[in-house]
Amino acid sequence: MSDMRFQDRVVIVTGGAKGIGAGCAAVFCREGAKVGILDRNLDAARQTADRLTQVGPGAAIAVGCDVSRHAELRQAIDQIAGEFDRIDCLINNAGVHPPATSIDDTSVEMVEDLLRVNFLSTFCGAKYALPHLRKTRGTIINISSMTAVLGQDQSSAYASTKAAQVGLTKALAVELGREGIRVNAILPSNIDTPLMREWAATLDDPESALERVARLQVFGRMGTPEEIGTIALFLATDDSSFLTGQAIEAEGGSSLDY
Ligand SMILES: NC(=O)c1ccc[n+]([C@@H]2O[C@H](COP(=O)([O-])OP(=O)(O)OC[C@H]3O[C@@H](n4cnc5c(N)ncnc54)[C@H](O)[C@@H]3O)[C@@H](O)[C@H]2O)c1
Repeated sequence: MSDMRFQDRVVIVTGGAKGIGAGCAAVFCREGAKVGILDRNLDAARQTADRLTQVGPGAAIAVGCDVSRHAELRQAIDQIAGEFDRIDCLINNAGVHPPATSIDDTSVEMVEDLLRVNFLSTFCGAKYALPHLRKTRGTIINISSMTAVLGQDQSSAYASTKAAQVGLTKALAVELGREGIRVNAILPSNIDTPLMREWAATLDDPESALERVARLQVFGRMGTPEEIGTIALFLATDDSSFLTGQAIEAEGGSSLDY
């Protein structure tokens, strides 16, 4: 019998071409999963899917999709379900962090757009994957952020979208628990991804900003995308069968030390 932990099961990772999403896709693929990578950057998604499939033992496919367009998202989810015949886990990961902006300089339209990318996509992903997850008693994992619980300077819109994901996680955990579907969130602190480096590049001294961010964790380093992937794998398997509605703070101790 295989000791792979997701063999022949199917996971969808939104924003899976790069960063945390790619880390999740790699961890699941290593455990024998069939991985559907949804990303608005189709070229990068294809490259990631090809690389993972080559390494195996699982396999990945790429589907171009802007998660902020809910009809596109629905179609992409149904396409993966059709191709792989089932869905066992949905990881709602795609998201963006705008540059630091005060509330005075944040327009209502900016908030609406960010809600569509970071939050509505999470709601719609869950809604559209649900008919498939009901058949497998699958799981939903939402990638939120520590900003949901700690706040963040000049990030009122971003932190709000991330907090909304936590509220959705808890409400859905109640609603879907009866059907054996578990819903959890992961709240990373600082993970070394393209998003993190793009953010640093908007500052005067990117290198020292990245060093400062690394020191925020008690380990003196940022987390890696695959470290978030291993938490997602735990949440997707029966190892976490008694966990639902949790906001797992994957923060490397960065909120400690009063
Ligand atoms: N990096 C961190 O330190 C950190 C910390 C806390 C939370 N997060 C959250 O983790 C998630 C992933 O962040 P990351 O750092 O890996 O970002 P990233 O920019 O490195 O990668 C994000 C991926 O999502 C895709 N994407 C973005 N918007 C999309 C859309 N509308 N439709 C489809 N795909 C889209 C991008 O093309 C990219 O491949 C985000 O939700 C982010 O808020 C990241």
